[in-house]
Amino acid sequence: MRPTQAAYPATRFRRLRSQDALRRLAQENVLTVDDLIWPIFIRDGAGIEEPIHSMPGVNRLSIDLAVRAAEQAASLGIPAICLFPYTDPSVKTAGCEEAWNPENLTNRCIRAIKAAVPGIAVMTDIALDPYNAHGHDGLVRDGIILNDETVEALVRMALVQAECGADILGPSDMMDGRIGAMRAALEAAGHRDVAILSYSAKYASAFYGPFRDAVGASGALKGDKKTYQMNPGNSDEALRLIERDLREGADMVMVKPGMPYLDICRRVKDAFGVPTYAYQVSGEYAMIMGAAEHGWIDGEKAMLESLLGFKRAGCDGVLTYFAPRVARLLRG
Ligand code: PBG
Repeated sequence: MRPTQAAYPATRFRRLRSQDALRRLAQENVLTVDDLIWPIFIRDGAGIEEPIHSMPGVNRLSIDLAVRAAEQAASLGIPAICLFPYTDPSVKTAGCEEAWNPENLTNRCIRAIKAAVPGIAVMTDIALDPYNAHGHDGLVRDGIILNDETVEALVRMALVQAECGADILGPSDMMDGRIGAMRAALEAAGHRDVAILSYSAKYASAFYGPFRDAVGASGALKGDKKTYQMNPGNSDEALRLIERDLREGADMVMVKPGMPYLDICRRVKDAFGVPTYAYQVSGEYAMIMGAAEHGWIDGEKAMLESLLGFKRAGCDGVLTYFAPRVARLLRG
């Protein structure tokens, strides 16, 4: 940028900030309901709404209430809902077979939502952590997270979810080669229009803590996820991962977590110009809610400002637990 030619008083930046009408006219980025994907937690049973201690305001919902939530989301104009299962420990196995059981919690919920609310897009999470006792996203042998064997399992999982009517598959596992394998399998099975939103740049983060409480994995996780999730110190690697996932057939890409990684969002958008999403994860939600509950910040304003930040950083949308609250506010 050249040094300002005409400085004060010819250039007074405060002119366009002096009244609401001018501020609105000059606003560069806007948050709309079309930018929202709402992650929800589901569990077995009926009529159950179970609070999650570390995520105030978020509940685990039985399928009937998840359908209700989807109806509510659709009426608010939220385009997509994303399902995360709280799996009963009794069905967890080392081989994670429950992951591709057509009758598992997630698959029953996909069918129920698609039958009742066909207009909302249903996104799923593809990873094995809900289906084993050690809490890792892949199959484990002798303490090693197996890559290629896990990819095969994930492909089975993806095909069943597509069969059940999932619109967007979200592989969150960070194994190498999973996008290509899934895309090929989906094409071969005739699921041409099932989209893949790849968790391409997913960091090994402390901000997933409350989520692991929500899905019942926090006590269970053995060790950490650093051999498959990204090192928070890296940035160029994110671009290489995104490039690889796009080449393998991802339609949309994600950066996760969100707020501490806005620089990555901006680099991705600038480098590729593809549909780019951020996940404002459970720990980010908990920070804002926790501070707001103490009266230390204005929760509503902080929520809106944090989400606008994603738009400014180049994101096309955000997965956020605030989705219904924001949608209501945006509707006025
Ligand atoms: C697991 C998965 C995680 C999240 C989404 N999918 C946790 C993890 O990787 O351990 C985190 C989401 C959040 O914190 O809100 N496949």
